[in-house]
Amino acid sequence: MEKTVYEAFHTDEGITDELLQEAAKLFSENYGIWDKQAPEKVGKFAKAGAPVRLSKSKLRNEYLPSGISSYARVFVDGTLAGNALACRWSVGGKTICWITQLVVHRDYRERGLARGLLDQINRDGSDIYGVMSSHPAACLAAARAFGNSIDNISLDFMKAHAESIMNVSPVEYVRDAKLAGSLFDPKDTTGRVCCVNSGFFVDHREPLEALAWVRDTMEWPLGDLFDGHEYLLILEARRRSRSRSNSRRRNVAA
Ligand SMILES: CC(C)(COP(=O)(O)OP(=O)(O)OC[C@H]1O[C@@H](n2cnc3c(N)ncnc32)[C@H](O)[C@@H]1OP(=O)(O)O)[C@@H](O)C(=O)NCCC(=O)NCCS
Repeated sequence: MEKTVYEAFHTDEGITDELLQEAAKLFSENYGIWDKQAPEKVGKFAKAGAPVRLSKSKLRNEYLPSGISSYARVFVDGTLAGNALACRWSVGGKTICWITQLVVHRDYRERGLARGLLDQINRDGSDIYGVMSSHPAACLAAARAFGNSIDNISLDFMKAHAESIMNVSPVEYVRDAKLAGSLFDPKDTTGRVCCVNSGFFVDHREPLEALAWVRDTMEWPLGDLFDGHEYLLILEARRRSRSRSNSRRRNVAA
């Protein structure tokens, strides 16, 4: 029987350079490839069809810039099978935890590891969780880990708070992402509902295949996926038990 072991670190001290080196390798070998528009839109280094790569220092500086971070990884029979990075910041007295990277090794997908990794991140006790991802499976996993399921996400919450949360993010790509879709612009009739234009031109063939499958099996609330775009998911943390004194829903100050 396979042995699956999760590890999580919720302080920067635990997130060593060695660990990030392994995370960079996992990402570079398993994340995905650049889209054909990438050389023009992203830069010549982003060669169409070449793997999207990350270095250890880029992970540290751009994906964990606040110095308040979490990292979770999972080993299956001793092999690093997936990991997740998250960066935290505060808005109006609430802690935001943003998943800045989530990747599962190709040989270990569709067996709940992404969900398991996000369950580990969820133990940091933040108030609000966010992720931008072109892959519907990442959104499904986040909805289950931090909320309940994709059917129960609050689009109203995202509409009200996405801007105030993202505008002050220490993560540049989150701060710079442009909200897109009919949730944020009622005049948007393109089919986009809740997403960001992040200019990240990663090849969408895999996410689009997953989207087609997901749409065959359920009501997908986040709309169509455009090139250079990612879905946006921001969720209030699910609290398993609440005392009467803190059971009222608190709002994020804008
Ligand atoms: C996205 C990714 C992390 C998902 O990892 P995973 O371990 O396969 O995901 P899980 O097994 O935990 O599945 C999560 C949910 O997505 C569904 N799912 C997973 N892969 C799917 C696919 N290819 N098509 C349709 N649904 C899929 C699962 O059934 C599950 O749904 P449920 O919650 O309704 O049961 C993985 O595909 C990956 O690393 N992709 C490349 C990198 C990427 O896009 N990362 C996201 C950037 S933030």
